[in-house]
Amino acid sequence: MNKNEIIKNFNSKLIWYYALGGMVVWSLFIGLSLLWHQRTMHAGALEAARIEAREAFHNHVTYRSWNADHGGVYAPVTKKTQPNPYLKIPERDIQTPSGLKLTKINPAFMTRQVNEMALEKFGYIGHITSLNPIRPENKSDVWEAIALKSFEQGTDEVSSLEMINNEEYMRLMRPLITEKGCLKCHAKQGYQEGDIRGGISVAVPIAPHFVIKKNNLKYLAIMYCLLWLAALTGTIIFMLILNQQIQKRLKAEDELGRHEKMEGVIEMARAVCHELNQPLQTILGNLEIVMLDDIDEKTLSKRTKLIKEQVERMGKMTQKLINIASYETKDMPQGKVIDIEKSSR
Ligand code: HEC
Repeated sequence: MNKNEIIKNFNSKLIWYYALGGMVVWSLFIGLSLLWHQRTMHAGALEAARIEAREAFHNHVTYRSWNADHGGVYAPVTKKTQPNPYLKIPERDIQTPSGLKLTKINPAFMTRQVNEMALEKFGYIGHITSLNPIRPENKSDVWEAIALKSFEQGTDEVSSLEMINNEEYMRLMRPLITEKGCLKCHAKQGYQEGDIRGGISVAVPIAPHFVIKKNNLKYLAIMYCLLWLAALTGTIIFMLILNQQIQKRLKAEDELGRHEKMEGVIEMARAVCHELNQPLQTILGNLEIVMLDDIDEKTLSKRTKLIKEQVERMGKMTQKLINIASYETKDMPQGKVIDIEKSSR
């Protein structure tokens, strides 16, 4: 197929189908891309919440280590801070020379109080727990028990989205490992350095992270829509221009074809005129002689023979014209003419 044929076959309907196909692929690409972004943004929001919860956990571990390194710290007895009945050590409750009552705060007790403050201040839900609790209220819930058991298997973190009080939270738990300072109080239960003593579960509200995700996604979706629309308009404009160009070209070619045909007709007419002119002249001249009143027998037969010869020549000529099979030309003073001799089979 040459270029012209391709253009001819490229009828306008077909190119619109191509364009439509292209747009379907483009829309699919945009859709999938948006879906992919939505997924990564969702995963990003979850990860951000996890980082927040992990941060809270690390803070617990830090001040707890500080507390444990001191073997517990003394604080004044208040309504809220009453002596811990589960802390059974000598000198748990002491008095300053001026009579101020002090009680020893073990890390877990401190954590419980810090958790209460964190809930009030930041909406964080924290819980210190163990599979083997000294204080019955420190018992783990089902989610925590599963996490604690997986820590025994070597997992170092468990997290998931959970509904708590009708609100969605990122809940995260990590183990509390027995350090040297912990043994002052926990050695008697048989714990050794490096053992998992329990864990702290922290739950942070997911809503703020989802708000960020939603906003980002909104802007991205707008951008994608604009991109999609731009490609769509671009394609339509391109197709319209292309279509117009093709139509123009087809029209020009059509005109060229007509012109070429006309040329051929003229060349043929010239050739025929040229070939027939001479015999016609001869026939006419001889006829005039034949028509003379005083013509003798001998001249009559000679002239008639000449006329017959020319008519036969014309007959041969028409035969050749019928048998024309190719297009061969030659140049004559009157212009390009068909070479009947060469063109005929
Ligand atoms: C001063 C003593 C003391 C030290 C030091 C101490 N704990 Fe405890 N711990 C306790 C007591 C008493 C309880 C139980 C009552 C409570 O909740 O306060 C407890 C409770 C816990 C709990 C909650 C589960 C339960 O058994 O009720 C965990 C977990 C825990 N401790 C881990 C540790 C780790 C880890 C360290 C070292 C960083 C440590 N403790 C240091 C005295 C101590």
